[in-house]
Amino acid sequence: MCGIVAGVAKREVSEILLEGLRRLEYRGYDSAGMALIDNDRNLQLHKALGKVAELEAAQAQQPIIGCVGIAHTRWATHGEPSTANAHPHTASDRYAVVHNGIIENHTVLREDLERGGVSFLSQTDTEVIVHLIDQLRPSHTDLLSTVQSVVNKLDGAYALAVIDREEPQSLVVARQGSPLVLGVGIGEMFAGSDTLALRSVTDRFVYLEDGDIGCLSVGDYALYDRAGEPISRQVVHLEPPKTEDVLADYAHYMLKEIHEQPQRLMDTVQAENLTAEQFGPEAAEIFLKTRAIQIIACGTSYHAGLVAKYWIEEFAQIPCSVEVASEIRYRIPVIVDGTLIISISQSGETADTLAAINHLGSAGIARLAICNVDHSAIVRASELVYLTQAGPEIGVASTKAFTTQLAALLVLTAALMQTNNQQSRLKEFEEAIANLPLAVEAVIDLEPKIKQLANHFVTKHHALFLGRGVFYPISMEGALKLKEISYIHAEAYPAGELKHGPLALVDEDMPVVAVAPNNGLLEKLRSNLEEVRARGGELFVFADEESGFETGPGVHVLAMPHSHILTAPITYTVALQLLSYYVAVARGTDVDKPRNLAKSVTVE
Ligand code: G6P
Repeated sequence: MCGIVAGVAKREVSEILLEGLRRLEYRGYDSAGMALIDNDRNLQLHKALGKVAELEAAQAQQPIIGCVGIAHTRWATHGEPSTANAHPHTASDRYAVVHNGIIENHTVLREDLERGGVSFLSQTDTEVIVHLIDQLRPSHTDLLSTVQSVVNKLDGAYALAVIDREEPQSLVVARQGSPLVLGVGIGEMFAGSDTLALRSVTDRFVYLEDGDIGCLSVGDYALYDRAGEPISRQVVHLEPPKTEDVLADYAHYMLKEIHEQPQRLMDTVQAENLTAEQFGPEAAEIFLKTRAIQIIACGTSYHAGLVAKYWIEEFAQIPCSVEVASEIRYRIPVIVDGTLIISISQSGETADTLAAINHLGSAGIARLAICNVDHSAIVRASELVYLTQAGPEIGVASTKAFTTQLAALLVLTAALMQTNNQQSRLKEFEEAIANLPLAVEAVIDLEPKIKQLANHFVTKHHALFLGRGVFYPISMEGALKLKEISYIHAEAYPAGELKHGPLALVDEDMPVVAVAPNNGLLEKLRSNLEEVRARGGELFVFADEESGFETGPGVHVLAMPHSHILTAPITYTVALQLLSYYVAVARGTDVDKPRNLAKSVTVE
């Protein structure tokens, strides 16, 4: 999704901006651009369709340099990916704007501006902003006050950075609904969509809140609220990231992140610490009063929520609903007294999840965030927090973030069991969690075998994933991984639903992947798989080594090391991640940056 980097310094900033864009590449984008004010007060611009490397090539060929500048990676919303639609957008060769978000009233604003004689060069919603600045600037004293007026005309979400060649020592930023953070340097100031973008220049950050507008200059910054009143925000000092986001010897970040999981799981959960206190000082009291749970999330994080529902209801005996954030935010669900709202998010910035938290939140309703990014918007909007320790996840397809979310949700289940007097199985949780990193290692050891299985999928166009019970959401996650990175259409079904429709699709061209741990539903699953075989479907069974499944004609069995049934959702996930990874590699797709997808979805 769109990424912003901006800077004002005594030194030349073009390389800092490009480095920031490189660090934001993981978010997903289709074009990039950069604008600087040079020493002669000219606005200089480069835009490129495709990768940041294209922008670097343009910069190498014809360098633009300056001490104040803005840069952007665009993920198309309004208008196709093209150089014309890439940001920055400019007006009068004087102003340049980069934007992340969606201006919902852009059509009306555009028509007004066109009636006034303005010509538009792009199809974007963003371009109205720069023309409004151009139009209103003469009746204001400076760029800051102009932007303050312009944002009052905008409906929707935005993070903005604006420069004006007549004010070459400053830049203006604004935030409403889309993330923006300031980086406080020594004698220089920066802004970025996330802290990762600015890690090479500072470790001190200011997280902007909705409605904030700021003016950054060399060595100083001033912040104002929506009403134009000066405000101050805390400067947060961040420790260096625990994991380096360098590829080392891995072919892709996704593979590196799959391999990191034993360590990240160990960092996220300690078997001897399955208590409410892990979620914050007020958690024990809130959990005691919790009568119902509503989980909200998107994408892979939603699948973690679906798994948690099985655990929370079975072990803690608390009713639990799970819904995708983009749906619940636009309806009026029944939130009974004593409901705990749980959001699950890797990035902590997903626009729909954030909006859903605010939509459901009301006096007396507690919110818990399970999140991988400290200080993110979702963390800041929640009373209780559990931080997963996945470290920065660069591959767009989530791997270690998902498994660490599941681990955190096991801790949550154990903590709720204790506050809800259901601790009889606590010991089992402790044992399963203590063994988890080794259990995941054992699955990673199967990598060569999984790679072989993957070859069978290379020429396929569709795949079906089946699971039962808690392994149904795991099969959903397996199907999502496959479609995200290999572009093979994949759907998951609870195996018991097979004969209610999807069985009609089964033939020799439809591989069927089954998740078959040795649990109480194994025999039921076995019958479902017979139904597939009887129709000529080719089966790929990820089965517990003790389950009795055997490879035979049309049946490929991957014998999974026996793992505790509580942590098997995590171990089977790792196997499915490796399957998708090797299918995608064999098909030659862009594994870490699959087409059309974004890592951090900051627009709805
Ligand atoms: C995007 C990412 C997914 C992620 C989802 C939710 O679609 O590509 O990997 O699961 O957003 O993101 P979150 O950061 O809230 O977990």
